[in-house]
Amino acid sequence: MTKKAIFNKLIELAKKAQKNAYCPYSRYPVGAAVMGMSGKIYTGCNVENASFGLSICAERAAIFKAVSMGEKKIKDICVVAKSATPCGACRQVILEFADKDSNVICVDWQPIEGKKEKITVIKVKKLIYKPFNPSQAGL
Ligand code: THU
Repeated sequence: MTKKAIFNKLIELAKKAQKNAYCPYSRYPVGAAVMGMSGKIYTGCNVENASFGLSICAERAAIFKAVSMGEKKIKDICVVAKSATPCGACRQVILEFADKDSNVICVDWQPIEGKKEKITVIKVKKLIYKPFNPSQAGL
């Protein structure tokens, strides 16, 4: 699969997952898709809770799904939402499992007819300035 084909597949599956978002409080649906090192793709959506702090972001839902299915490392990850960009907590979790040169594909997208999507690609190494690395925590 070419890089472009992988990106397109991740975007398509993240959009599909966004439809499953459980976000009655924020009304901000997010979808994510991540490719594991095996080449398999795992998706996630945000899942909120009446106790707001228990909510989980789409990116972490997808990554935890991948890891719990046995993936040790992840490749590229895609997030889809209105002005999509991973939050700080998700950036730290992406850093734990992705290569520095993996890509984070941010798709600014709203399911409104005629609305064009805007794609921004960020390298994992650019996600956090001076990150706290897994190696500093003993890895
Ligand atoms: N959210 C995500 O799923 N991913 C992000 O990168 C940013 C925020 C979710 C959390 C919450 O359900 C809603 O969006 C509003 O913050």
